[in-house]
Amino acid sequence: LDFSELLEKKLSGERWSEEDVKLLVRLVSSGRLSGQQIGAVLMLIFTKGMDAEEIVQLTSAMTASGETLSWPDSLRPLVVDKHSTGGVGDMVSPPMVASLTALGLKLPMISGRSLGHTGGTIDKMESIPGFNASLTAEQMRGAVMSDVGGFIAGQTEAMVPADRVLYAARSETATIRSVPLITSSILSKKAAEGISALVMDVKFGRAAFMTTFEEARILAESIEQTGRGYGMKVIVFITEMERPLARCIGNAVEVAEALQVLNGGDAASAGLRELVARQSGCLLRLTGKVATDEAGAAAVRNSWSDGSALKAMRRILVNQGVSEALADKLCERGQFSVQEYLSRMGREPLSVTQLSSPASGFVSDIDALSLAKICHQLSRPERLGGKLDHSTGLELLVVKGDAVKQANGALRKSSSNPQWENQAIEDLLLALSMAQKDAVDFLDDSPAL
Ligand code: URA
Repeated sequence: LDFSELLEKKLSGERWSEEDVKLLVRLVSSGRLSGQQIGAVLMLIFTKGMDAEEIVQLTSAMTASGETLSWPDSLRPLVVDKHSTGGVGDMVSPPMVASLTALGLKLPMISGRSLGHTGGTIDKMESIPGFNASLTAEQMRGAVMSDVGGFIAGQTEAMVPADRVLYAARSETATIRSVPLITSSILSKKAAEGISALVMDVKFGRAAFMTTFEEARILAESIEQTGRGYGMKVIVFITEMERPLARCIGNAVEVAEALQVLNGGDAASAGLRELVARQSGCLLRLTGKVATDEAGAAAVRNSWSDGSALKAMRRILVNQGVSEALADKLCERGQFSVQEYLSRMGREPLSVTQLSSPASGFVSDIDALSLAKICHQLSRPERLGGKLDHSTGLELLVVKGDAVKQANGALRKSSSNPQWENQAIEDLLLALSMAQKDAVDFLDDSPAL
């Protein structure tokens, strides 16, 4: 078959054979297909779907499109990872890598950039000056085998190149929300890492790709089945994504909150701390390091209070190109504000916008989707030609259930470039005033909260 015959076969309702899928993935990773052709492949998979066998074949072919990592038998049981289907304020992965490497696990984490309105771990880590997320397979092996114990990197031309091509085109072709595409994208990366256990966080709710629990369950089953086919232990958490998971939404600001998590204390949001501890605890149990998830979560919290998780983060940062001086500043122990971390990264401070509540009462809801869309839009200013402005972000000063008085401050926003600052601030104020109405509902004297 040639490329257009492959498309016609799917279009007419036939399933692809293993050979068809391999040919397709070879063509995708060869770089010879045009943007239109990639778009057509994505839209076909999105609309026609794939059965479970085709999904496994697609995942295997994508994994095999580049180099893969493998580990000595004595090490492999400790080599694990975690991945999320994508959320807002979902800065769970980097603190997990730091906490778990501090506790002796190995984490070869291949992540993605932001997809649609959701944030991407790689974009967040690249907001740290000097951080290099494009590692060679050799550098990845070196990080895992050394006392660093892990890395956070993106797909490259050498590692899972097929996912790199497809992933980059999914936001602009409206083909994100697809069980075969999400399953193969995530598991091709996880299989290439050679891990023995995976914790998956499948999000559902208005700010997730799967908006209902039932859709999330179907995706969770697909990921679990495909992962088990690789001999991985897979545990899937299905978690809600209605409100931002953390207080911060954006790249540099989410790094700041992750560092607050690793410092212990309660500066970072409770929801974020809880998810990092629970999902890390589960991985510790899967490797046999502890008997229960709860014991694992307690060990993780301990790595925050004894400073070992911060030290692990410092090793990861330095190993991936961050200067020792900056890594020292970011991984210093202490309760620092988001503003302080931004200043240590050499970024402009957040400017504070006061939002006034129409009445005294309690925050009943915060719409993660509206806020994520505002950040997404503002972080890609025209002057940067589609490139990301890592400084754009929001810090929420209230969470659901907080009491507010009239004229309480609710959000901080950040923007750094004076050329676009005024316009952006005007746009943001406009968006926030809508967000205030649509996204932040204030219930007057709600007794339930
Ligand atoms: N994360 C990925 O790596 N791929 C997806 O499709 C969604 C989330």
